[in-house]
Amino acid sequence: MSALVTLFDKTFEPFLPESLIQEKIKELAEEINKDYAGKKPLFIAILNGSFMFAADLFKAINIEAEICFIKLASYKGAKSTGNVITAIGLDNDINNRHVIILEDIIDTGKTLSQFLPQLEHQQPSSLKIAVLLHKPDATIHPVHIDYCCFSIPNRFVLGYGLDYDGFGRNLKEIYQLKESE
Ligand code: XMP
Ligand code: MG
Repeated sequence: MSALVTLFDKTFEPFLPESLIQEKIKELAEEINKDYAGKKPLFIAILNGSFMFAADLFKAINIEAEICFIKLASYKGAKSTGNVITAIGLDNDINNRHVIILEDIIDTGKTLSQFLPQLEHQQPSSLKIAVLLHKPDATIHPVHIDYCCFSIPNRFVLGYGLDYDGFGRNLKEIYQLKESE
């Protein structure tokens, strides 16, 4: 695993190695392959943070499935702003579809708890949530998570699609903010 990463004023230390991330995603994909065989699910990946997770997961999906990408929230700095912005709309008709939301991380839960009712309104056949990371200790707005790769401590994380002020998304591993920061 690589050494420390410094971005702007913050230092991050290695947290989840690439091999473990890939292993967990494959396990999750296998579960979804079983649960959704014949259901032609529609994955809705939430940009920007989930793009790597969505790509690696979708490569391991071997049943008939669709994927689309939407953008909801802007996340600035090391604390959730709570601002939910719909920048890229959902073009697919989700009525009577089996929908699986792909999100990079559930922190306070605010983003998804605001967005889910909009989707439920369109009456999908089913609506489930798959997340790469969940911070249970940070959750204020409870969201039912159906598939989760990692439950993690309430510390800011970076890499594998997740950013600090726009940077760090290209790291293959996940880093966390150094204890002393
Ligand atoms: P909420 O609080 O609404 O947050 O569940 C969800 C969104 O906030 C971003 N987020 C993070 N991004 N490191 C990041 O790079 C983090 O530790 C972190 N925590 C929350 C993320 O975009 C997520 O979709
Ligand atoms: Mg996100």
